[in-house]
Amino acid sequence: MIRRAVLLGTGSALPSRVVSNSELAETVDTSDEWIVERTGIRQRHIAADGETTSTLATDAARKALAAASVAPEEIGLIILATATPDQTFPASATLVQAALGINDCIAFDVAAVCSGFLYALSVADSMIRGGAADKAIVIGSETFSRILDWDDRGTCVLFGDGAGAVVLSPAAPGEPSIIDFCNLTDGTGGPSLQMPAGGSRMPASHETVDQGLHFVKQDGSAVFKFAVRMTQEISVRILERNNLTGADLDLFVSHQANRRIIEAAAQRLGLPEDKVIINLERYGNTTAGTIPLALEDARRQGKLKKGDLVLLASVGAGFTVGSMLLRWSL
Ligand SMILES: CC(C)(COP(=O)(O)OP(=O)(O)OC[C@H]1O[C@@H](n2cnc3c(N)ncnc32)[C@H](O)[C@@H]1OP(=O)(O)O)[C@@H](O)C(=O)NCCC(=O)NCCS
Repeated sequence: MIRRAVLLGTGSALPSRVVSNSELAETVDTSDEWIVERTGIRQRHIAADGETTSTLATDAARKALAAASVAPEEIGLIILATATPDQTFPASATLVQAALGINDCIAFDVAAVCSGFLYALSVADSMIRGGAADKAIVIGSETFSRILDWDDRGTCVLFGDGAGAVVLSPAAPGEPSIIDFCNLTDGTGGPSLQMPAGGSRMPASHETVDQGLHFVKQDGSAVFKFAVRMTQEISVRILERNNLTGADLDLFVSHQANRRIIEAAAQRLGLPEDKVIINLERYGNTTAGTIPLALEDARRQGKLKKGDLVLLASVGAGFTVGSMLLRWSL
């Protein structure tokens, strides 16, 4: 019997500090009008001192556990998707594990940037199917504010901090569950969106700091073009191989980077506005956090009911591309 994963509960965590577009415009040459028109973003949450990727992740995981009525000691697997770990190693998932008081389960990070949550969810689903884990937590958590150049208007207006988590278990026969996932990577896109220094190729030095190489560098237009094309392509691909079309979907939950990318994909799938969740106006691009945060918002807005067919899709640095089809179980 194939044991696909089912979602038992969700949780999220956002730093309390909110920074509006107008506030950013006080320190960098931009405007609320430009940011809203070109991206749809109106504000973002920014982590305070002491708030980190793992503390936000732990907060979101605790809420997801409570929503799922699952005790931490029942968890056999923690996967944390992040591009902004607390430190290079150990994995931030191990910090979350320790904070949750668990010391004998599998815990590791997945680095797939904006597709990180979907990649982590597909790894968890595969491990549950393979019998390597029973109950699992999958988290997308980021503090991109720590690696942004606040003088670069091309990037600093786009991102925000936040985390979302889901608790999973094997589905009972006939229960709504994950149906399929489709991930692919195009490694030639690496230079288009990256943090150049701090790794083995360019270790931290006075020079790398002076040259601003520990900040996000992006070719916005190259990323935009790839994201528009591939969000659509990966969505159509997973629908077609499951003999489905956009008309079968109850909700489309895309990675939240830019309103124009999501609307172009929704149009290609023939989806009306009420079958699409867009919440980037409040959070900006929280990278691996966007999809679980959007799922929570969709639920709160009454856009999700048990049995609904949901399509998730993302494009991120790498380039990484992901999609997942599931039947909503909560
Ligand atoms: C970044 C992005 C919003 C820029 O929008 P765009 O319509 O492509 O705009 P361009 O890059 O063509 O820039 C147009 C002009 O706006 C300027 N500009 C860039 N950021 C600006 C800002 N925050 N405020 C005002 N002007 C800005 C540019 O300098 C450029 O000026 P120029 O023509 O004098 O050189 C868009 O490229 C984008 O969303 N890219 C994908 C980003 C993303 O999603 N990244 C994460 C992927 S997971």
